[in-house]
Amino acid sequence: MFSLPSRRYTGAKTKLLDKIDSALLQNFDYRDKHNLSFFDVFAGTGVVSEYFLQKPQFGCFILNDFLHSNAVIYQGFFNQDSFDFKKLESFKQDFAHLQAKDIKENYYSKAFGGKFFSKNDSKIIGYVRDRLDCLLEQKQVNEKEFCILLSSLLYSADRIANTVGHYDAYRKNIALQDRFVYELIEPIVSNAEIEIYRQDSNLLVKNLCKQNRQIDIAFIDPPYNSRQYSRFYHLLETLTKNNKPQLYGIALKPEPENLSKYCKVEAKETFKDLVENLAKICKVLVVSYNNTYASKSSSSRNKIGLQEIQKTLQSVSKTSFYEFDFKAFSSGKTNLDGHKEIIFVGEIQ
Ligand SMILES: C[S@@+](CC[C@H](N)C(=O)[O-])C[C@H]1O[C@@H](n2cnc3c(N)ncnc32)[C@H](O)[C@@H]1O
Repeated sequence: MFSLPSRRYTGAKTKLLDKIDSALLQNFDYRDKHNLSFFDVFAGTGVVSEYFLQKPQFGCFILNDFLHSNAVIYQGFFNQDSFDFKKLESFKQDFAHLQAKDIKENYYSKAFGGKFFSKNDSKIIGYVRDRLDCLLEQKQVNEKEFCILLSSLLYSADRIANTVGHYDAYRKNIALQDRFVYELIEPIVSNAEIEIYRQDSNLLVKNLCKQNRQIDIAFIDPPYNSRQYSRFYHLLETLTKNNKPQLYGIALKPEPENLSKYCKVEAKETFKDLVENLAKICKVLVVSYNNTYASKSSSSRNKIGLQEIQKTLQSVSKTSFYEFDFKAFSSGKTNLDGHKEIIFVGEIQ
């Protein structure tokens, strides 16, 4: 079964969880507190929320990311609605017996066969995806079960995809093997209250301000360079929505959607707006920052500088920061020598 972190994702903080925790503890000792609320503003894989969910002091979580695939994955793993695991196991068995030779060509085999997946694997992936919509329509599964089955398809397809970790390109001139195996994800069981959103972070925070929400800790981990996550993970987005869009270019991307302001020139003012609004409703802001500013490639160069982050945080909080060496994702072109990961902790006054 797939656990939540068993996924390749640019910028995932899987290896930094203890560091984030110890930086937080230095400024906000939560160990004698209870029912704390945690807001994962750019949740990505969700590993940071999963980590704090295991701490008994935390009782309320808000996870947000504007990608469709991430939101379905949060529903699959974190949503606490009931589901029938035996039923899901039996669908898994059905999918395990599928034979590509018995399946007709479909959108996925025509678009991605021989590119991101072998022809046979893409046929099965496309067949399973359409079958999941039928199961939901015919009420053979509830929404939670549908999200578990769809997240399982996303993890299973992603594990074998012919990529370098994201879908900006596929490796050409290699013989693609049939490797697809449909495995289930392992949903997380918790007594915490968990809210899941798929919204632009700045808009969500404005809405939470209007509702006068009170949140203990917000974890802020936006993208810092011009590489758009919706473009990197376009195939998972297409598979989630199953809207069978027209695709363009060598990497077979659909029309752009969910382009982040954090990847554009307006990143600084967008970050400032976010922090100023979060300061109205949160006690502690934790910001994760990758110092790739020295990078030679313009797409990897940061849109917001370290000092700008610090200045913005200092304008609303008592700010400390911690530096760690961290081996980051690199496409090969970028020189990330001396790469640093920085954690800021801002206590709102
Ligand atoms: C650095 S990743 C977060 C990684 C995450 N902390 C983890 O450990 O997996 C940044 C995330 O922000 C999301 N994102 C970018 N701009 C956004 C926006 N304006 N609103 C909501 N989500 C956004 C991206 O989809 C991406 O998943």
